Amino acid sequence: MTTTTWWKHGAIYHIYPRSFADSDGDGVGDLPGITAHLDYLSWLGAEAIWLSPFYRSPQRDFGYDITDHTDVDPLFGTLTDVDRLLAGAHRRGLRVILDFVPNHTSIDHPWFAASRTSTDDPRRDWYIWRDPADGGPPNNWRAVTGGPAWTLDPQTGQYYLHSFLPEQPDLNWRHPEVRQAMHRVMRFWLDRGVDGFRIDMVDYLLKDEHFRDEPLDGHGRYEPALARHQLNQPGTLDLLRELRDITDGYPGRILIGEVEYRLPLPRLAGYYGQDDMLHLPINFWLLFTPWQAHDLQTFVTAYDRALPGHAWPNWVLGSHDISRMATRLGPDQVRVALMLLFTLRGTPVLYYGDELGMTDVPIPPHQARDPWEGRDPARTPMPWTSAPNAGFSPPEARPWLPLGNPSVNVAAQMADPGSLLHLTRALLGLRRGHAALRDGSYQPVPAPDGVLAYRRTLPDEEMLITLNLTGAALDIPIPGEPLLSTHGETVGLLRPHEGRITLLRVAGQVSEAGHVLAGGG
Ligand code: BGC
Ligand code: MG
Repeated sequence: MTTTTWWKHGAIYHIYPRSFADSDGDGVGDLPGITAHLDYLSWLGAEAIWLSPFYRSPQRDFGYDITDHTDVDPLFGTLTDVDRLLAGAHRRGLRVILDFVPNHTSIDHPWFAASRTSTDDPRRDWYIWRDPADGGPPNNWRAVTGGPAWTLDPQTGQYYLHSFLPEQPDLNWRHPEVRQAMHRVMRFWLDRGVDGFRIDMVDYLLKDEHFRDEPLDGHGRYEPALARHQLNQPGTLDLLRELRDITDGYPGRILIGEVEYRLPLPRLAGYYGQDDMLHLPINFWLLFTPWQAHDLQTFVTAYDRALPGHAWPNWVLGSHDISRMATRLGPDQVRVALMLLFTLRGTPVLYYGDELGMTDVPIPPHQARDPWEGRDPARTPMPWTSAPNAGFSPPEARPWLPLGNPSVNVAAQMADPGSLLHLTRALLGLRRGHAALRDGSYQPVPAPDGVLAYRRTLPDEEMLITLNLTGAALDIPIPGEPLLSTHGETVGLLRPHEGRITLLRVAGQVSEAGHVLAGGG
């Protein structure tokens, strides 16, 4: 594996810094907390970590509202803590990817403070200002967070655009100085040694130049997801090419991009450009595809075929914006889901705590923190031990969100070889050890109802992955030498909710695998 393609081979572990480990007892996770757990991440077998924002921020959207892109919020630590984290990670062979939030800043950013002072301030056009129309907002655009995307600023009598919260005004990426300023931000972190960025909300960077109203549906409404003018403008791809140019100046660094969740495949593929835009436009489709063998097989096959030869796939089963994997799929399917995530062709992204099967934690209304509501349950503190506060915060501290089930924690699962944590580690280890699981082509294999089966094939190595998505034990012959089961030892029957990886050595057995599975059940 070469140093420039590391991101194709290993798993990316997504850390929500507020919730990983609180070293100073203020109840909020921080950078030294992450550094203290790097050994855990390398033990697990992660290739890279991606950190949600830790920059200076009033935390109205928990760091996605930035007041200084090149400094650390005191809540999380200092620039020296970033350097220590980078050094510690790199020493262990772990790469570090930062969140880059280009679409908007905090309303408290000095750029916006200047911009709002007067219509001829030099920073005025760094943001998007429009006159009222008919005494109201300039057009009918809506914020992703709900409500109008425009807020009137009494000081100058104009409205500013915010695709998210009113406290997150959108930058004007058509302004060359804005682009240059944000390019400088990237260089600042690349020079410091980070290994790449996850770019927030790529589709929103450019808006319709004429600010046309969005078309309404039959009910007089429209969904931001269906919007035509507010996002996805043609020049966006050129902006990405510029970001890629900068990144390519630093060998081995990557750009991951958050794009719309249900992006049609041709558009998702378009974000790779000619290998001159995003290395990995995030594929969120596993979150929305019905958890049925047939639907999953259909999607995985279509995605694999939709990507051009130079494009490398990627897979996600959880994030800080949606309900936890174990809650969405139910506890029974978690093992099979992890086996799927780590055996598909492409880079897997694992959300912190999913290796333990963390579930959504119900948040009583008085403890809710997320301004959009609803995202807190998937952001609760990482449970490390069975101590008070689960070893996330010191015992006397008050974690920023309540903790989940105390029996689910790293220490308990480390001590149990049959745990989900050990399964995750075994899957990552297998991926490291077998080129077919990393680089092999993906071939769907016909299988009985409720079973998802595929081969990962290289000329001299081939794997069969067989996943039982049903609650029934299935009497199907599975060819090959068993390498790993989600359920420990391999027995004859495929147990309910069991997944299995077998090694098919000889090419001749391959087509037989298809027959055998298809004929069984
Ligand atoms: C992030 C969210 C954030 C939003 C606005 C999203 O893509 O994942 O957590 O609230 O962007 O920055
Ligand atoms: Mg702290």
